[in-house]
Amino acid sequence: MTSIFREGLYRGRHVFVSGGTSGINLRLAEAFGAAGARVSVIGRKADKLEAALLGLKAQGIEARGTTADVRDWAAVDDALEKAVRDFGKLDVVVCGAAGNFPAPAAGLSANGFKSVVDIDLLGTFNVCRASFERFNTPGASVINISAPQATQPWAMQAHVCAAKAGVELLTKSLALEWGPAGIRVNAIVPGPIADTEGMDRLTPTPESKEKLAALMPLQRMGTKDDVAQVALFLGSSAASYVTGSVCAVDGGMMLVGGGALMQIMS
Ligand code: COA
Repeated sequence: MTSIFREGLYRGRHVFVSGGTSGINLRLAEAFGAAGARVSVIGRKADKLEAALLGLKAQGIEARGTTADVRDWAAVDDALEKAVRDFGKLDVVVCGAAGNFPAPAAGLSANGFKSVVDIDLLGTFNVCRASFERFNTPGASVINISAPQATQPWAMQAHVCAAKAGVELLTKSLALEWGPAGIRVNAIVPGPIADTEGMDRLTPTPESKEKLAALMPLQRMGTKDDVAQVALFLGSSAASYVTGSVCAVDGGMMLVGGGALMQIMS
């Protein structure tokens, strides 16, 4: 990754990433680790956790992890306790764990809706809340991972729209309450990021990916590194006056609107 951030920017820092065992979140863990951070990750599945830790360590990153479901308060609290015991207080917490599947609202069970809201919204709250007393303050920060569905209604995504809208207002509420405690809270909205499970589900063919890229003002799909660069900025002292912000990393997708994506999917 070509980075504007100097090597060692995060040396001695502890960065915790929920859902950091795959996808964009794993890339964020790698990017913070490459910048010198000690990295803790949690994920639901033991095999993915093991593979992620092997990969991080192979890159020379000091990494640790625990299996935990972000919906489970006790598991999250325990995972954070262990992380802090091993790597010290938290400098940056990335809340990236999320769940998604396309389904029409009229075909969705109450439990299906609840599952996504619980993973995305309650899970984000749980990780933030369990981190609160464990932050290295002042100067600590939270980066919540939102989605374009937080502000754009997308068909087949009512559950995700509702959950991510909650994540964005939770971000701002926590920023308001926790600023005086020396904790900044921001969110990133990744747009169409290539090589992710989510985009592969929404645009499964090369043709649909090309069509989508052509609709973006910046004329391409994003990369995981595009998101990582912004996360490295938000977590650093360069962003010390930035809190409660929701930063789109989407090639201008929000300017086009979710309807464009729907055309590709239909
Ligand atoms: N369409 C409609 N309903 C669905 C569904 C689908 N494609 N997938 C799951 N559900 C419903 C289930 O039917 C169930 O409801 P029910 O009890 O009324 O039948 C409910 O969601 C919970 O399903 P379950 O599989 O038990 O949930 P889980 O907690 O194990 O899994 C999910 C979480 C639902 C988010 C699952 O889609 C998942 O694990 N996805 C993979 C990870 C992921 O989404 N990553 C994010 C990429 S952006």
